[in-house]
Amino acid sequence: MADDAALLAFTPQVEAETAPVWNLIKDQVTPLEWRLHAPLIADIRRLARMRGAVILAHNYMTPEIFHGVGDFVGDSLALAREAARTDAKVIVQAGVKFMAETSKVLSPDKRVLIPSLEAGCSLAASITAADVALIRQRYPNLPLVAYVNTNADVKAEVDICCTSANAVQVVEWAAREWGVDSVVLLPDEFLARNVARQTSVKIVAWAGRCEVHERFTVEDIAELREGYPQAEILAHPECPAEVVAACDFTGSTAAMNDYVKTRKPRQVILITECSMAANVAAEAPDTQFVRPCNLCPHMKKITLEGIRDALLFDRYEVTVDEALIARAALSVQLMIDLPPPAVPARYDLVKARHHVDVELI
Ligand code: 13P
Ligand code: SF4
Repeated sequence: MADDAALLAFTPQVEAETAPVWNLIKDQVTPLEWRLHAPLIADIRRLARMRGAVILAHNYMTPEIFHGVGDFVGDSLALAREAARTDAKVIVQAGVKFMAETSKVLSPDKRVLIPSLEAGCSLAASITAADVALIRQRYPNLPLVAYVNTNADVKAEVDICCTSANAVQVVEWAAREWGVDSVVLLPDEFLARNVARQTSVKIVAWAGRCEVHERFTVEDIAELREGYPQAEILAHPECPAEVVAACDFTGSTAAMNDYVKTRKPRQVILITECSMAANVAAEAPDTQFVRPCNLCPHMKKITLEGIRDALLFDRYEVTVDEALIARAALSVQLMIDLPPPAVPARYDLVKARHHVDVELI
């Protein structure tokens, strides 16, 4: 913790400096919370300027982080692209460890800091590099695609990475490049099942799960439909396939954000992590948000205090073995080099409700 208590006072100067953020998020945080957040936001901005740091904040960060200190905000794909092109000396990853590792792999000369060492991910924990080596032996002729929600050693073993924003695009690209009709997509079973519904490529999947999205059920969606018949329901593709099939749209966190801002539904329900709705709602005043949600315990390890201390004490540095970086960079860069996915054109895919089976390893 910083020992200079004066820095944390809600002074008139802090209040004035942070007023635009307050105006944006005043429906998402209480005035009492704001008196604690504002001095930290001012302090973090000062420290970031001093250190030549850029703060990359994921869509699941709390509103005071997302709107208060994120220099660049977005989904995993957008944050990875930004990490690859930033010329800042230091990257502070306001997100989970696999995102920080991706930044390090794409920008090995930068100092990458993560505010908490406990910010993991159940998907990244579900598969090891040794598992992937065995999968390679079992499917020697198929391309291996890994979701970015994996550790760097897993990324080093696969042919290309994907995110929820471009998974269909990457799978179809890999099938074409390899001249095959099946692709191995690791490690999220539900993402794999949801991708399978949107492509003719056959999918071989691993039984990894996101502990946040796997908890949503079709019964939840049926209850929401009954209670809020006018609402448009959007689900992240890490949700079970039958949940996604019962919703109106599926897409990455950025695609959901884009959907709300572009289509301006009167009422919307985001089937995903809790902070997502708060962050989108702050910038979508014409849409009413119904908020059933699940908290990601890993994302919630990132706090303003943690970000301030990361900049102040230069911690916690994320390192990846050099040899591993060279190998992991191939699969991540290959994904980055594909053209960005056409998000709005995918809105119609919501109607692709047929069930397609996947081969589970
Ligand atoms: P996005 O790539 O859609 O931002 O999702 C990342 C994530 O961890 C979702 O749980
Ligand atoms: Fe991992 Fe799920 Fe949390 Fe995203 S929401 S970081 S996939 S556990």
